[in-house]
Amino acid sequence: MEVASLQTILLFISFISFYVYIFLLRRKANKTATHGFKSYPLVGTLPDFLLNRHRFLDWTTAILSRCPTNTAVFRRPGKIHGVITANPQIVEHMLKSNFDNFPKGVRFRTLLEDFLGEGIFNSDGDLWKIQRKTASYEFNTKSLRNFVMENVAFELKTRLIPILENSARNDTVLDFQDILERFAFDNICKVAFNVDPGCLGGDGTVGGEFMRAFEDAANLSSGRFMYALPSSFIIKKFLNLGSEKKLRKSIAKVHEFADKIIRTRMEERSEKKDEDLLSRFIANTENSAEFLRDIVISFILAGRDTTSSALSWFFWLLSSKPEVELKILQELENIRLQNGKTIGDTYSFDELREMHYLQASITEAMRLYPPVPIDTKACNKDDILPDGTFIGKNWFISYLTFAMGRMESVWGKDCCEYKPERWIENGIWKQESPFKYPVFHAGPRMCLGKDMAFIQMKSIAASVLERFGMDVVMEKGKSPEYLLSLTLRMKGGLPVKVKERIV
Ligand code: HEM
Repeated sequence: MEVASLQTILLFISFISFYVYIFLLRRKANKTATHGFKSYPLVGTLPDFLLNRHRFLDWTTAILSRCPTNTAVFRRPGKIHGVITANPQIVEHMLKSNFDNFPKGVRFRTLLEDFLGEGIFNSDGDLWKIQRKTASYEFNTKSLRNFVMENVAFELKTRLIPILENSARNDTVLDFQDILERFAFDNICKVAFNVDPGCLGGDGTVGGEFMRAFEDAANLSSGRFMYALPSSFIIKKFLNLGSEKKLRKSIAKVHEFADKIIRTRMEERSEKKDEDLLSRFIANTENSAEFLRDIVISFILAGRDTTSSALSWFFWLLSSKPEVELKILQELENIRLQNGKTIGDTYSFDELREMHYLQASITEAMRLYPPVPIDTKACNKDDILPDGTFIGKNWFISYLTFAMGRMESVWGKDCCEYKPERWIENGIWKQESPFKYPVFHAGPRMCLGKDMAFIQMKSIAASVLERFGMDVVMEKGKSPEYLLSLTLRMKGGLPVKVKERIV
């Protein structure tokens, strides 16, 4: 037999064997395993993971919705065992009742260390506590609220609205996700470090290099969680190959930007005191320049990628729900009439608080598209979760906020529908348990920027919607693809055509 045909036959046999192997593993994986405790489905063998990692959120959502307690065990090579859950009781257990047993842990911290260092998102114990305490003072002040209001109003009036006016006049297509990221980036830099990078200045393309480097660093760092062999990134990193080479370069650019902020601010240390978040950290002379850089990067991540993600999905959802848009516009008109305002005037903090329906519409968008769709912790010592599932020492545990928004057991039969009304009672926006809706996390590590985020998101949504109509330039009825980075972004952005409303 000729060598070429022998090769073809061998190739064919390997191909068939691979698929038989996957089939058998899948059958095995779908059986139930018991460990002396309550039984639970076992998922996530290597082939399963490889076949589904590009659609990780949909895959895990489907698995969890089939599990009796919306909880499953996940196994991967390299002794990676863990639990994934969409069960509110388990979320409460890990984030609050048994908080000390579920830190971020070494695995999580190692994967993100190059990008986030020891910043608040990537630290545990005393290092986390001190950052949380220092930052909390700043987030609790009334002056911060006013500062955020002033800065949002400035960014809206002088940058965002003119860009939209210009686009409407020239009938161009805008990537609205990119615009929202630039807005949020300018805003967080001003509020946290008193620096205005002016990324949304001009035609909205300034500062592109840093923005791209930050985006790459976040995408590539989160990509490390998706390696088939979890520690293989170490070899790639050591050899400076492929994605690790790119990551190194993008992190260097991010560091350059953050270092510049620190240098400038340290030089000013003696002149100015305590006027923003960074000055509180600089005031402690024990904090090294490197640690300050980690703090800066964590806050940029917190402020830039979350509100822009939430608003991108919100505007996209709204584009197919004219009835929701109309109700928002009616609410805005009522508030304007009551307060003697006209379109284009800045809304005050109290006026923003009156926007219950808008609040509900944004909250509902984040239920289906949470900016932080997965959160992972490590287990310090063996434990039994509230549904009886065993979790071992050093296992990971992830709660999937994305899946939780799509669980019938949590939200009822209409869980997959976008319905702001589910958040309204007697015309007022009502809160839900943060364990059922852990979009802002819950317990001692709950998001510090929640109020600030709502001020920003409601101000943007109100100002944009009352002046402009948005046509999303995408195939009708097709959902945008998501990009699973550290936050949930839209793959390819959100292309829109803007039209000025006739009033
Ligand atoms: C829609 C907007 C936002 C959402 C959905 C959101 C969500 C979250 C989530 C899920 C966490 C927990 C992350 C983890 O521990 O792994 C978190 C933590 C945090 N967020 Fe937000 N966030 C938002 C906006 C903001 C903003 C604008 C800031 C302001 C800078 C901020 C500051 C923080 C900080 C400092 C933490 C760390 C808390 C800690 O570990 O103690 N967030 N956020």
